[in-house]
Amino acid sequence: MRVLGIETSCDETGVAVYGDDGLLAHAIYSQIEIHAQYGGVVPELASRDHVRKTLPLIRQVLDEASLPATLIDGVAFTAGPGLIGALLVGAALGRSLAWGWGKPAIGVHHMEGHLLAPLIEKPAPAFPFIALLVSGGHTQLVDVTGIGRYRILGESLDDAAGEAFDKTAKILGLPYPGGPELATLAEQGDPRRFRFPRPMTDRPGLDFSFSGLKTFALNTLHQELPDAADQSQTRADIARAFEEAVVDTLVIKCRRALRETGHRRLILAGGVSANRRLRERMDAAIAAEGGETFYPRPVFCTDNGAMIAFAGWQRLRVGQCDPLSFKPRARWPLEDLTAV
Ligand code: KG4
Ligand code: ZN
Repeated sequence: MRVLGIETSCDETGVAVYGDDGLLAHAIYSQIEIHAQYGGVVPELASRDHVRKTLPLIRQVLDEASLPATLIDGVAFTAGPGLIGALLVGAALGRSLAWGWGKPAIGVHHMEGHLLAPLIEKPAPAFPFIALLVSGGHTQLVDVTGIGRYRILGESLDDAAGEAFDKTAKILGLPYPGGPELATLAEQGDPRRFRFPRPMTDRPGLDFSFSGLKTFALNTLHQELPDAADQSQTRADIARAFEEAVVDTLVIKCRRALRETGHRRLILAGGVSANRRLRERMDAAIAAEGGETFYPRPVFCTDNGAMIAFAGWQRLRVGQCDPLSFKPRARWPLEDLTAV
């Protein structure tokens, strides 16, 4: 079975085709330039740009895979959670194409897409495993016993990890989208100059709280900058201290989740899982406990069509599909999904 996947939940248009032999083609168009001048995603502009880009991207991907539309057996589109206008574009287009082609369609949960992305890679992790989902909108630790079998062990009570990266980057004067920019700046930072708190690690439980870290960054910046001889070094040092605090916190909670569940495999997914320092530190910490870590390749950590095509393929091939009247959902709990 060959499944066309369409992702339009936020500021990336992603399209891919996944078949029984693996990924056949994929393309991503990023709206960064459109939103950069506003310092963040403008939902209406995002929707309008998805309208312009999604169909040409579908044509491009089908061309690259040398696939006529008649060889597509099903369509998967992101149905939530996300910006409702942006979701509507991909959902309306995906559902309509499937109807026109006389093929089944399915609305995919965006975070299930992220969660399953490491399974596109080789070697793919076997079930059960712990998933750490770290994106711009979510930070969740999930006990995964199969496709659609998800139990949330902990999540952020305020800012998501990616959101904390983006907000702290803004405080440091970095352009949108801040996460990767902050990570680059942090490479020149001295990890010994500042020490940020590791929120909620001194008490039991697997929830997170990252909103205090941006305030800590702001206060540190205000204290240091007036008399800092080298302002750019101070910013790099703050970026490094912030990154170390987020990474340390995530490592502590992942280790705890593995111990509590007895699982030995950990997967990381979502935009922040592209972070190099996080991967290095997580790999070392989990290996030291006899565990194994798995990630998607960096381009499949952030939003993409491949993860949606793959998640849709997993469900469509066992006969699951959605009716024509399907509605996208801005909010959609991961635990509501049905098992495959
Ligand atoms: O998964 P994603 O593309 O979109 C959502 O579903 O939210 O994640 C985007 C988030 C942004 O907050 C971005 O700043 C962050 O992931 N991000 C990173 C890195 N690359 C992307 N954060 C830290 N280091 C990175 N290398
Ligand atoms: Zn995402």
